[in-house]
Amino acid sequence: MRVDLNTSPAELVAALPSPQTIADPYPLYRHLRSDTPIFGYKDYPPGTVPGQDEPVAAWVLMKYDEVAAAAHDHATFSSRDPLQEQSSAPSLMLVNHDNPEHDRLRSYVSHQFAFRQIEHIRPWITDRISEMLAGFAGDVEVVANLTSVIPARVMMRLLGQPDDDAGRCRDWANAFMLSADLTPEEREASNQELAHYFATEVTALDTRIAAGEAARDGLISSLLTTQVDGERLTLDEVIRFCLTLVVAGAETTTFLLTNLLYNLATMPQVAAQLREDKDLILPFINETLRHSGPPQRLFRVATQDVEIGGKTIKAGEWVALFFGAANHDPDMFPDPETFDLTRKNVRQQLSMGTGLHQCLGFAVAKMEAAAMIEVVIHRFPDLSLGAQAPVPQTASLLTHGFAELTLHF
Ligand code: HEM
Repeated sequence: MRVDLNTSPAELVAALPSPQTIADPYPLYRHLRSDTPIFGYKDYPPGTVPGQDEPVAAWVLMKYDEVAAAAHDHATFSSRDPLQEQSSAPSLMLVNHDNPEHDRLRSYVSHQFAFRQIEHIRPWITDRISEMLAGFAGDVEVVANLTSVIPARVMMRLLGQPDDDAGRCRDWANAFMLSADLTPEEREASNQELAHYFATEVTALDTRIAAGEAARDGLISSLLTTQVDGERLTLDEVIRFCLTLVVAGAETTTFLLTNLLYNLATMPQVAAQLREDKDLILPFINETLRHSGPPQRLFRVATQDVEIGGKTIKAGEWVALFFGAANHDPDMFPDPETFDLTRKNVRQQLSMGTGLHQCLGFAVAKMEAAAMIEVVIHRFPDLSLGAQAPVPQTASLLTHGFAELTLHF
């Protein structure tokens, strides 16, 4: 279906979940932003099963200031997801918790994801990426062969799980996040397998620790043994933490890594600048997150009536925060469609969220991205697009990126 951009705001909102918009949402955002807040966007929150669950109807926020303010006002915009709570999918830790519960749960994991805590796995990440790239020559499809593999392996390593289980973990995460093209039954079965895998692993480890075996390295052990104010997490909470880290960290990072490679392949002058000056790698990651960041929108539910831009959002109504549109708001980022390595305020991009729910895994994602970029720019200075045209992801507006990307190594 082609989207006619000269149509009414109501029709543009209805076109948001169309495959054409998902593939390239930015033109539609440009037309719609000044009419937001606007009601009538229908889509599925993560963890629901399209074809089985009903989509939610939501307000759309697209202006940078309004999206950022709503993300910070967590008392008015709740992250609890009533649909997910009723669905077969396990509800996520942190992501779908409000305070005070959110802060209690985050205190068990926040230090584990601080940069100095994860720094030790950087050499392991670089070595695995180097090994994977060693076999690359000619045209290679990078999503299946690299960018979906790295985050799943890293997450399993952090959790203390076998490397061999990373492939299954990646498939479950994709199904949960809706970008995999599956029937409702397949998606539900996948969600159950994911929950079953971690329930079995966590329970077995807990039994071994209770029997006196020394806790092994890895996040699962520390989630089972860490005490905050004398309290431990319950087994169910540890299991759901594992699920959360896998689904929150796998697919988002895959899309970011793929978008970074696309930019390296299509902007050789930028790749050359990064080769010359390593300090530009972080701005490159941030500008890629701003320009073509994976998360396009996330949902909240209003806890009370609230007025935004002269319109009243009523208590109980769903609100979609369009981080992707805010990142292209010209009032915040002048000339937003241009990829600009020197953009001064690029760190204010919203692709990692902001406020209470700001991404827990930002340091992990940045480390993976920087490690991959460093290996690729030096080993493949002539990286370019392959013969096969890039295939955009068109199943869900949740994330933006490529389902398949063939590059010439
Ligand atoms: C490029 C990669 C990533 C992107 C773009 C991304 C994006 C985001 C965004 C936008 C949020 C805010 C959600 C909200 O406001 O409702 C978030 C939260 C979160 N992310 Fe990430 N993420 C990435 C990687 C990771 C990784 C690797 C992990 C795993 C360690 C992770 C774990 C989480 C968790 C647990 C939360 C919830 C935090 C909370 O509610 O306190 N993310 N992420």
